[in-house]
Amino acid sequence: MTDPEPQSRFLRACRRLPVDATPVWLMRQAGRYMAEYRALRAKYSMLEMITTPELAAEVTLQPINAFDLDAAIIFADILPPLIGMGLDLDFVPGKGPVIHNPISSLEDINQLETPPAKQNLAPTLEAIKIVKKELETKKIPLIGFAGAPFTLASYAIEGGGSKDYAKTKALMYREPASWKLLMEKLVTVQVDYLLQQARVGADALQVFDSWAGLALGQDAYRRYVAPFNTHLFETLKQAAVPVINFSTGTFPYLEDVTACGGEVIGVDFRMPLGAAWQKTGYDRAIQGNLDPMTLLAPWNELEYHIDRVLNEAAGRPGHIFNLGHGLHKTTPVDNVRRLVDYVHEKTS
Ligand code: CP3
Repeated sequence: MTDPEPQSRFLRACRRLPVDATPVWLMRQAGRYMAEYRALRAKYSMLEMITTPELAAEVTLQPINAFDLDAAIIFADILPPLIGMGLDLDFVPGKGPVIHNPISSLEDINQLETPPAKQNLAPTLEAIKIVKKELETKKIPLIGFAGAPFTLASYAIEGGGSKDYAKTKALMYREPASWKLLMEKLVTVQVDYLLQQARVGADALQVFDSWAGLALGQDAYRRYVAPFNTHLFETLKQAAVPVINFSTGTFPYLEDVTACGGEVIGVDFRMPLGAAWQKTGYDRAIQGNLDPMTLLAPWNELEYHIDRVLNEAAGRPGHIFNLGHGLHKTTPVDNVRRLVDYVHEKTS
């Protein structure tokens, strides 16, 4: 249920309420840069870790126990929902995600199933329940998440990552009716998944549209993505928790992205946060946007970049400090600790 006066810094910032210090969490805060994560990953595959609720819960809590973070994000990935739809997903070491039977025709799209999350993604819902119990004493909120339809469609069609999105865009431009059916099926699955995450305890939800902005210009975004994202964010209002709309490469048309929905707009590192906030309007909270690679620099250089982001936010209520994309696996753990503590000290 919506709490009009939440206590946690993170949830207060989502609602643009005053905070005692700027909240911080980091995309990919659980992952290979942490020795604790690598130790578990040596024993289990990525999919085993996601589909074993106790392991997913343990990994979610690793960065919470190590750093003074203001929110946890459930350990999962945006791609597992595709498995229940009929796609054969694998995480290949050194290569990333691979789908062995990518879709290429209307016939393939017709065959995609839309199973309910309770059946398809039960281990992640179970992991959320376990983490919530652990976080209760610490009063740290938990973020649930899912991928936006364009980003998921690109994996389903390309069979993995892509540089030019050629197959995805060919289907989108050549067969608008097939594209519409695919996007609608993805929205059905994602909305149900996100609503279930909120139902079992997620305090906020983040939607990752990681690739739409890198693949599409403004007009294509408006025609082939925005209607579906708008429907997704509109339906998510039922969850009654703050929703973060994160994308990358969308600065030229951030107004269109913002119009799709979300109380919080997550922005990448390619734009100054101040200019981005002007575009979203100050009636939205903003999340971002330190370049994750600055964490590879020595402290005095990193400090300069953190200060830049804080100056851009200018102390307005509604800034959630985060990176402009996920933490890199070579990030020194000490820099993460120092970053989190520094943001709190500097803003309190
Ligand atoms: O942020 C968190 O700590 C929560 C967990 C999380 C993961 N992936 C774990 C993960 C989240 C929120 C994601 C989102 C995700 N996954 C996105 C959207 C965010 C973004 O980066 O734009 C995308 C596009 C994916 C797909 C994906 N999963 C890729 C491209 C890769 C390979 C890249 C890499 O770093 O290896 C993954 C694997 C993955 N997802 C790992 C983790 C911790 C690494 C797996 C390993 O241990 O080998």
